[in-house]
Amino acid sequence: MVDKKPCILVLHGPNLNLLGRREPEIYGTFTLEDINGQLKERADELGLGIDFIQTNYEGKMIESIQESDGRYDCIILNAAAFTHYSIAVRDAIAAVSTPVIEVHLSNIYKREEFRHYSVISSVVCGQISGFGTDSYLLALEGAARMIHRGN
Ligand code: DQA
Repeated sequence: MVDKKPCILVLHGPNLNLLGRREPEIYGTFTLEDINGQLKERADELGLGIDFIQTNYEGKMIESIQESDGRYDCIILNAAAFTHYSIAVRDAIAAVSTPVIEVHLSNIYKREEFRHYSVISSVVCGQISGFGTDSYLLALEGAARMIHRGN
């Protein structure tokens, strides 16, 4: 029997489809395709499967989290603006057994006050914020280590 390789879901929230031209002084000039390409390359090196979803819709994000249960070993989640107010996204994360790593390109604590609070941080494994594209790559390293550790 061939062992299935561990698989990661990268879930990008609203407006992240505009990366590259969206407030580049805050979010940088990489597009979402660039970021996904870097993640795919690193996932291959780490022996991980990886899938990507971007959505501007809260319901789609919730369904993707619900459907991850039993299919993915970890979610790398940039919930974007939903981070700051979506109790429904928070409850979806709490409802599934899939571990979630919260990521942000920008340092949300250095920005407007309404971004300082994350409603999801209390139900995720950990948060990486402020390293630009590297936030995602660091989350992928974290996911790989967590999976190999077995928790
Ligand atoms: C973000 C930070 C959020 O406050 C914002 O709404 C985003 C992107 C980030 O990656 O820095 O859309 O999650």
